Amino acid sequence: MTEINAFILDLDGVVTDTAEYHFRAWKQLADEENVPFTREDNEHLRGVSRRRSLELLLGEHLERYTEDHTAELMARKNGYYQEMLHHITAADLLPGVSELLDDLKRRGLKIAIGSASKNTTTVLTRLGILDLFDGIADGNVVTRAKPAPDVFIYAAGMVGIPVAQCVVVEDAESGIEAALISGMIAVGIGPETRVGKAHFRYDSTADINLETILDGKI
Ligand code: BG6
Ligand code: MG
Repeated sequence: MTEINAFILDLDGVVTDTAEYHFRAWKQLADEENVPFTREDNEHLRGVSRRRSLELLLGEHLERYTEDHTAELMARKNGYYQEMLHHITAADLLPGVSELLDDLKRRGLKIAIGSASKNTTTVLTRLGILDLFDGIADGNVVTRAKPAPDVFIYAAGMVGIPVAQCVVVEDAESGIEAALISGMIAVGIGPETRVGKAHFRYDSTADINLETILDGKI
């Protein structure tokens, strides 16, 4: 049986649902640039870095833009997104997150964040849970985005727990891949089609069964 000593949580889509804000910010940018962009398109950006998201959004239009111009587009989108983050409060925690964090603390496990977002600290502060984490690994500390395992390995290092004793909770396909590459136990949040490769899968964060995961029957 594997001993588990740390949980590393993805932020967007696991702790809070910022996908709607990301969508609105990208949509505003896409409209300004006359590029078609739908809610369905936005689903493909789940867990994807800001730069890669822009590349996916622009698609064939990407060649119209210089490197300086794409940097301006990313900054503009981020400005819209940060404006929306002002509206986030503790009420935006996804169901089951508070209970999960309490339970992990009670059991003495380390808790870290492993997120692609460079806005991680702002979001956690707005949610009022920044202090609950023993380590925060985000888009500011690694250069290679998921599915590279870097952000999770960095998080494990921050809390001083070997990778084999870490559990990752993720809602994106690329995040599950990153967790598996890093040699951690992967818990997927979402449909089978998206996170089916995880060791454990639940429809939502509220459905996570800690006992089952800690028993390690994989
Ligand atoms: C991920 C989100 O967590 O972070 C993506 O799922 C987002 O949608 C990515 O693009 C980068 O976020 P940010 O805040 O640095 O633009
Ligand atoms: Mg996510």
